[in-house]
Amino acid sequence: MSAPLVRVAVLASGSGSNLQALLQADLRPAEVALVICNVAGAGALEKAKAAGIEHRLIEHKAFPSREAFDQAILEQLLAKRIDWVVLAGFMRILTKVVLDAFPERVVNIHPALLPAFPGTHAQAQALRAGVRITGCTVHLVDSGMDTGPILAQTAVPVRPQDDEAALSRRILREEHRTYPRVIKALAAGQLQKDKNGRPFLGLEGPGALSALRVPAFEEEQP
Ligand code: GRF
Repeated sequence: MSAPLVRVAVLASGSGSNLQALLQADLRPAEVALVICNVAGAGALEKAKAAGIEHRLIEHKAFPSREAFDQAILEQLLAKRIDWVVLAGFMRILTKVVLDAFPERVVNIHPALLPAFPGTHAQAQALRAGVRITGCTVHLVDSGMDTGPILAQTAVPVRPQDDEAALSRRILREEHRTYPRVIKALAAGQLQKDKNGRPFLGLEGPGALSALRVPAFEEEQP
């Protein structure tokens, strides 16, 4: 008998391109078992529907508090026996209601090399700061804004002609490569603790995911 799959829920608010990348990748032993979206008409919902993945629309504005919204999400996560919660462009801060039920089991992807440029418009922040390298970060989620332990980062160059849209596209391409690899590694049980008790992805051996991926910049498309 084959090993049971690790059940992942993806929470998204927007276009869902990271969701799409996760749905197209070989995530085994993970599988996307549920998609939750808080915005009616969001691309993420359409993508889940088109892929035949169970999906729920839970609109935050229908709830009197963040906790009540999170409670509704939690009920769905428990009902579907979810193991890992994967945030992919989910524009809400989760409260303890979900985080305490999934300790070190909630991950997010952010379009910058954290701790630089947390919060919204990370790409515009990078352009304003004039950095020449930015990228994306996958991290465990804690109660702060993009502050949880970093699991993997991919570097992306900033080009002189970049505007926010061009830089966002280049970063997104790398997000779509990085996120599925991390989710697969997490599901395979590669989350470990370093000597200070800090979580990291144990990435030894051939074919392992590097915690910092620096694609060959000269091979990048504009
Ligand atoms: C991505 O840039 C992700 O890093 C950020 O929100 C964006 C979501 O894009 N958290 P998409 O909905 O996956 O296309």
